[in-house]
Amino acid sequence: MNNFSRYLPQLEKALRSLDAWRSSYGEVVHREPDSAEVEKILTDLVSRLEGNYPFHHPQYAGQMLKPPHALAWLAYLLTATINPNNHALDGGPPTSEMERECVDRLAEMCGYPKPRLGHLTSAGTIANLEALFVAREIHPGKAIAATAGAHYTHRRMCHVLGVSFIEIPVDADGKPDMGTLNSMASDIGTLVVTMGTTGLGTVEPLAQLQLWATDHGIRIHVDAAYGGFFTLISEHLDSPADWDALHLADSIVIDPHKHGLQPYGCGSVLFKDPAAGRFYKHDSPYTYFTSGDLHLGEISLECSRAGASAAAFWATLQLLPLTMDGLGKVLMSTRNAAMDFAGLVRKSTRFEIYAEPELDIVGYFRIPEAKSVSEVSRLNKEVFDQGMKKPSHLGYHLSLFKLSSDHFTEKFPDYRADSETVTILRSVFMKEEHEEFIDELAERIGL
Ligand SMILES: Cc1ncc(COP(=O)(O)O)c(C=O)c1O
Repeated sequence: MNNFSRYLPQLEKALRSLDAWRSSYGEVVHREPDSAEVEKILTDLVSRLEGNYPFHHPQYAGQMLKPPHALAWLAYLLTATINPNNHALDGGPPTSEMERECVDRLAEMCGYPKPRLGHLTSAGTIANLEALFVAREIHPGKAIAATAGAHYTHRRMCHVLGVSFIEIPVDADGKPDMGTLNSMASDIGTLVVTMGTTGLGTVEPLAQLQLWATDHGIRIHVDAAYGGFFTLISEHLDSPADWDALHLADSIVIDPHKHGLQPYGCGSVLFKDPAAGRFYKHDSPYTYFTSGDLHLGEISLECSRAGASAAAFWATLQLLPLTMDGLGKVLMSTRNAAMDFAGLVRKSTRFEIYAEPELDIVGYFRIPEAKSVSEVSRLNKEVFDQGMKKPSHLGYHLSLFKLSSDHFTEKFPDYRADSETVTILRSVFMKEEHEEFIDELAERIGL
C-alpha cells in the first residue's frame, strides 16, 4: 500500500487525460519554472522529509499517524491540479457532489435517517467546534460537559465559544463518574461522549449515557474523531450496544484523516436534525438547508476547503465502502494487531498491560524492580528512547502516556504513589501492516 511510485503509470495516464480536458479550452502559455531548479528543490525537500519518523512502517507504533491510502493520495493529487474549493457549489461542482455522497455514506454508517445535515471539515478540531457551537445555540447559558478522558479540544473550544465547561471525572478504566453527572445535570446542556479516546481508545458508555441524557433533557455530542469507523466492526468489539446507540446522538464527529485512510485535511461533522443548519445562516429558512442546491459553505464555519479532500475520500469509498467487508477489513486488522500485542504483553514477565484495548490502542508498561510510580515513569521513558536509538531496520517507535497515579495504584495497589502522575507506554496499531509485525515488534521491544 505504501509503494506510491508503483502507481506512476496510472497517475501519468490520468494526468494526461486531465491535461487534454484543460487543452480543450484552448492552449494557454503557462510560465513554467526551470525544470532543473524544480528538481533541485525537490531533492532538497526529499532530504528534509527523510527527517520524519517511519510512519509508514509497522515498527512505528506510536502516535495516530500513517500515510494515506495510495488511491486517496492519487485522487488528491489529481484533483489538486484543478484545486476546486468546496466552499461554494460553483467553486467545485463535482467535488461538492462527491462531498455530499461521502457525507451520506458517513451518516448511513452512523444510522442517521434522512434528512440530516453534515459536511467535511479540515479536521476533527473544527468539526467539534461546529458541534459545540450548535450545542451552545440550542442550550444558551448551559454548560458543555465532557470526561477527563475527552480530547483537550473540548475545554479549549468552550473557552473560544464563551461556554462553561464541566469536566466529569473518570474511574481507572476511563468510564465517567455517574455521581458527578447526576449532581451537575441541571447545569449541563450538552454532554460530549468520546467513542475512542485519544489516550487509550476508551469507548465511553454511550447507550447508558444516552438514556441518562434523555431523562435529563440533555443533548449528546459524540466525538468519534478517532473511533468512528470502528462501528463497522462493532460486533467484534466489547460493547456493540454502545455503537448501536450512535444514531441516537444529536451530533457526531468522525475524522476520515484518522481511520478513513485519508491525507490530513479531512474531518467531518454530522447533525441528526437538519434544522441545526439555521445556526449557520440566520437569515435563511429551514428548508433552504435541505434543498438540493445547498452550498456547503452555508452550513460550515470554514470558508475555503479543499475539494481534493472530498475527491480523495470519495475515491477511497469506491474501493473500500463503509461496510464490514470494505473499510471494516482494515479496521479488523488493526484491532487484531492490538489484541495480539496485548496477548503478548500479558504473557511477558517484564511488561504488564495497563488497560485491555477497546479499539486498537494498547497502554502498557515495563515492570520496574522497585515498585513505585516514579520508577515506572523512569524505566518506560528509557524503553521509549531505546527504540529510536537502534539502527533504523531494528528500531521501534512507541508513544508515552501520562495518567494519574491514583488511577494507576487503584489497578496496581502494590506500587507506591511517590509522584502525582505516572508515565506508561502507549502504542497505536492503526496500520493494517501491524497485524503481521506484532511478533517482530514484541521482540524488538523486549517483551
Ligand atoms: C477523540 C479526538 N477528538 C478530536 C481530535 C482532534 O482532531 P484533529 O487532530 O483532526 O483536529 C482528536 C485527535 O487526535 C481525537 O483523537
